[in-house]
Amino acid sequence: MSGWLVTGGAGYIGAHVVRSLRTAGERVVVLDDLSTGVRARLPEGVVCVEASVHDLPALTKALGEHSIDGVIHLAAKKAVAESVAEPIRYYRENIGGITTLLEAMADTGVTCLVYSSSAAVYGEPPWSPISEDTPAAPKSPYGETKLIGEWAIRAAAAISELSWVSLRYFNVAGASEPGLADTSANNLIPMVYAALDSGENPEVFGTDYPTPDGSCIRDYVHVADLAEAHVRAAQYTRQAQRGDVFNVGTGTGASVWEVMAAISEQIGRDVDAVASRRRAGDPPELVASVDRIAGVLGWQATRTLADMVRR
Ligand code: UD1
Repeated sequence: MSGWLVTGGAGYIGAHVVRSLRTAGERVVVLDDLSTGVRARLPEGVVCVEASVHDLPALTKALGEHSIDGVIHLAAKKAVAESVAEPIRYYRENIGGITTLLEAMADTGVTCLVYSSSAAVYGEPPWSPISEDTPAAPKSPYGETKLIGEWAIRAAAAISELSWVSLRYFNVAGASEPGLADTSANNLIPMVYAALDSGENPEVFGTDYPTPDGSCIRDYVHVADLAEAHVRAAQYTRQAQRGDVFNVGTGTGASVWEVMAAISEQIGRDVDAVASRRRAGDPPELVASVDRIAGVLGWQATRTLADMVRR
């Protein structure tokens, strides 16, 4: 029976991907250094190799020993602000990770790859929705490393049998069960709950943007939908040699005020959000065009904003 190695499988997104793969009947092995991943997020019976994606011998051994035929590569650093403060660390972690993995795959003849990319590769395109053909122009070291990772994969595929898909995530949110929630709390919904838990008012960063209600618009996608997109992508890479990039979003934007309203609805009282200054570097609107992933992978998001704000 063939199997998938999920790097970063004990992380927030990884744990959801592992569950979706198993639901689809795929065999899964996780490789995670447990720096931010948590073993308890993994369902019973999933083998977890505790190793870094920078460890070529450990990767090669894991790919060979477990009869892996494809890799879903999620292990990476993902905080935009941190990447601005520590760019070289982001370059080392994210580029080092994907290039070491590509080397291990080449050494062991593993040919299928699903890569975790980001809408951050687009930077601030002046139009919306954003299609995959929009020129990439990242505005942060984080976005740069994700784009360079895509380039590395393309270059490797040009001289090998590598069959790959890159998924450019928009704003991932929610959890399929409370124990799988994102614990890094750098994003809007976890930050609102963190404020509420400590008796503070959540803040709306910028209320003078050129949007209908003045707050920023994003394309929030439920992590369980995102996980199912990985399964479709993985199966697609296995069918024939591919090389494709897909946005993963809902195709519909929600403003920060709308997210606040959804949370108020969820908790049964007003969150009492307060208008605050703009946060540096936030584009007014980022919404995905999702036609390509619907047409090629037959995937579309089914969960709503109400599902994403549920605790
Ligand atoms: C950013 C990245 C994205 C990355 C994601 C997760 C860009 C363009 N986007 O998304 O690639 O995957 O981080 O790290 O670099 N907000 C508030 N109050 C808060 C918190 C947030 O109003 O307390 C607003 C922000 O100003 C923003 C929206 O909520 O408009 C979403 O913010 P956030 O969840 O941090 O994600 P992005 O910055 O959109």
